[in-house]
Amino acid sequence: MDTTSTRKNTEEGMIMAETLRRLRSWLGLVVAAVLLPVAGVSAAAADPGATIVGGTRASTAQYPWVVYLATTSGYQYCGGTLVAPNKVLTAAHCTEDDVASSVLVVAGRDDKNSSAGTAARVTRIWIHPSFSSVTRGYDVSVLTLDRNLTQATLPVATAADANLYTAGTSTTILGWGTTRAGGQPSRYLLRASVPVTGDQTCSAGYGSQYKPQHMVCAGLPQGGVDTCQGDSGGPLVAGGKLIGVTSFGEGCASARYPGVYARVSSYETEIRQQLAS
Ligand code: ARG
Repeated sequence: MDTTSTRKNTEEGMIMAETLRRLRSWLGLVVAAVLLPVAGVSAAAADPGATIVGGTRASTAQYPWVVYLATTSGYQYCGGTLVAPNKVLTAAHCTEDDVASSVLVVAGRDDKNSSAGTAARVTRIWIHPSFSSVTRGYDVSVLTLDRNLTQATLPVATAADANLYTAGTSTTILGWGTTRAGGQPSRYLLRASVPVTGDQTCSAGYGSQYKPQHMVCAGLPQGGVDTCQGDSGGPLVAGGKLIGVTSFGEGCASARYPGVYARVSSYETEIRQQLAS
């Protein structure tokens, strides 16, 4: 199980998981190289390559509320969503070790190597009090910014939006994370579309680690399109609302293992309270 963020690979178990994952993907490549020509499938079709995994370039002009979290030295490590002019919803596992003064929220910057947009400071970090690890749920965190940003905000899904969580609902995922498991982070904002996955499908892959009350999955049965390391905390969007926060997955874009997202509507009360504070 890869439940790490890009900067939190220090625990032994995580290193083991990372090593196993690398080994597995290396074996996967070898197997694919041998089998694909025989099957008549081009390597290009099997590995959509450049781009989240299986995505395309996107602009913050079109998705003004997508932001990224960076260290004060500018290293991007997670995503987030502007849900009020001075509030960002992100993942608890992104901020659990952070000190507010050392986090930057960057808005309006498609290209990490540019200085477009705004880098705001964080004055307060709220982490769901029940959060302990991603597979237990509660992977939500709200950051308070030192200023009001001018970018448009995205409404947060509530209990009234149950329909948006139906299997098959089309969603948008966004981020600056890696373009394959174990790969390099993207320089540019990427986006992709994936359908919401039914509870049974998600449980079939993740067993008891998938908790339907706290999480929602999205991805294709055959894999190929997914969020990946560094996309955590970023948005899963459906029907013009934020329905999920990128949380964890087994590798990235693997068949039978869709991406797992914090189910935003289950935290309606806590989030609303944070937005009002
Ligand atoms: N935990 C990762 C992060 O911190 C996100 C992983 C998402 N994985 C996936 N297969 N959808 O950036």
